[in-house]
Amino acid sequence: MTKDLPNLPDLRIPAHVAVIMDGNGRWAKQRLRPRAFGHQAGVKSARRIVRASHKAGVKALTLFAFSQENWQRPPTEVSLLMGLFVRTLSREIASLHKNGVRIRFIGDHGDFPAGLQTLMRDAEALTLANTGLHLVIAVGYGGQWDIAQAASSLCRDGLPITPAAIESRLVVADLPHPDLLIRTGGEKRLSNFLIWQLAYTELHLVDTLWPDFDDSAFAAALSWYASRDRRYGRVPEAS
Ligand code: IPE
Ligand code: IPE
Ligand code: MG
Repeated sequence: MTKDLPNLPDLRIPAHVAVIMDGNGRWAKQRLRPRAFGHQAGVKSARRIVRASHKAGVKALTLFAFSQENWQRPPTEVSLLMGLFVRTLSREIASLHKNGVRIRFIGDHGDFPAGLQTLMRDAEALTLANTGLHLVIAVGYGGQWDIAQAASSLCRDGLPITPAAIESRLVVADLPHPDLLIRTGGEKRLSNFLIWQLAYTELHLVDTLWPDFDDSAFAAALSWYASRDRRYGRVPEAS
């Protein structure tokens, strides 16, 4: 990994990276294999980016693993993905914990298999006090759902709905907004990911399919990010 990261100390490393891991199905299709094959390869890629983020000094990594809209996929694909989440989480949790990763799941998990819900809660509890990489997995997540649940909770408490108040009730209220969004798979859309939190995020949209997104692709994303001028509506520094 490190060999692909040029001049690491000189790079402006994003504190929070968010990733739309897209393109597993097409990757499998290119190989004349079923979509399941692509999702399995996608897990390997996810494991790789967790390690690479940790090494690069990224503090928080949010991975979009399953959107609310993904419930509309064929039931066989949905249950395959649920099974893959269960197997991956069971297999990886000990080593994530050992490496100081704090894991957290965001989304509406009500319709998830009970066993998976338990695994997710246990993993969160186990790693709660860890101070290494903060790993957020968005499953059953929708950005509109997130904003709506924040607004509902303010209404319940009889509080005015201001941007700051909504902000404080989002499911990831304690993390800074993502500095860098990576979307693989070639689409130029947010697909209802962290739509509130991405207001001023730098968007790195690449054609690479998720299973092919390797350490050098991640290094390229970090270099690209380091070259951005984040103005937030202001004029450039030197003006
Ligand atoms: C992303 O890959 C993984 C999930 C949405 C779960 P896709 O399954 O969307 O792959 P493509 O976009 O069909 O290639
Ligand atoms: C976005 O990918 C969701 C995840 C990566 C989990 P999709 O493949 O579902 O997005 P669309 O349907 O192309 O917008
Ligand atoms: Mg897709």
